[in-house]
Amino acid sequence: MKFSRILGTGGHLPARVVTNADLESIVDTTAAWISERTGIEKRHLVSEGETCCDLAEAASRKALEAAGIQASELDLIVVATTTPDQVFPSTACLLQQRLDVHGCPAFDLQAVCTGFVYAMDVADKYIRAGVAKHALVVGSETISRILDWNDRTTCVLFGDGAGAVVLGAADEPGIVSSHIHADGAYKDLLQVPGGHGNGRPDLAFLEMKGNEVFRFAVTTLGRIVEETLEANGLTKADIDWLIPHQANIRIIQATARKLDLPMERVIVTVGEHGNTSSASIPLAFDQAVRDGRIQRGETLLMEAFGGGFTWGSVLIRY
Ligand code: UT7
Repeated sequence: MKFSRILGTGGHLPARVVTNADLESIVDTTAAWISERTGIEKRHLVSEGETCCDLAEAASRKALEAAGIQASELDLIVVATTTPDQVFPSTACLLQQRLDVHGCPAFDLQAVCTGFVYAMDVADKYIRAGVAKHALVVGSETISRILDWNDRTTCVLFGDGAGAVVLGAADEPGIVSSHIHADGAYKDLLQVPGGHGNGRPDLAFLEMKGNEVFRFAVTTLGRIVEETLEANGLTKADIDWLIPHQANIRIIQATARKLDLPMERVIVTVGEHGNTSSASIPLAFDQAVRDGRIQRGETLLMEAFGGGFTWGSVLIRY
């Protein structure tokens, strides 16, 4: 068994919903500005005491149920997160304890908004190498906790949530290919400059030069789409569904145009979820699987871009 395929998906959003209109009373913004510039109408935010692991656990249990396997059958747990509950143990170890799984490797992976794509790349390689038969891959974020709620240029953009998939070893793909990249030369354009590690916990909030990130994201995502098609000898017409990272509807539309894909073939959740960083792709994927849009046998392209900069894609025959 040389490949990994998707056995099941799950997603979870915190109950608290914050609309654009709600944000008007928090920062100097308007509901119309947020909606026009980003496509975001509302987002779900965690409440006091609700943790990244809580979200990850709920999404994971749904993914395990959909996959029809027990947590005890997992050989690998990877959690992509930018907002772990603790410096250590990793959120993956916290999740492992909740799921009553013992002994299999469990670790967090940090690639910000590209985290889920990175985690899929890693888990797929474990399965292809024959080291794992079942892998739980999660993107979970409480990004609202690292936002500066006085900074209107960032706090209106993000939301919290978690998505998960269970991968299983198979004779056929599955994950056809994955492509991940990074370039730390752009570290200053999107960052959390401080934390306990560098003795500046006072600076542990997200900063972004939105305009520059936007331009770079559009160009880079165009290129990663081409790289993925070329690597597999495919044409644009072979893609049934685009499942993009959900940062801004204008970035998503630009990538869809590049693929000549009508927006009906693009899974869009940014309006309801905002940017949930590493959770955005698995949440969108789960939604479209559960509402019946994505069908077995179809070809899916996931792509993401985030702080680092990091970027990447996963091509899947579902
Ligand atoms: O997920 C990781 C990757 N992240 C992204 O991909 C995000 C990429 N960037 C973006 O999505 C967009 O750049 C933003 C949504 C962040 C900003 O949209 P923009 O069209 O690039 O706006 P801008 O930054 O050029 O700002 C335009 C104006 C500015 O005012 P002036 O200088 O023209 O007077 C801002 O101060 O909009 C102002 N502005 C706001 N006004 C009302 C910025 N934020 C707000 C706000 N409400 N929340």
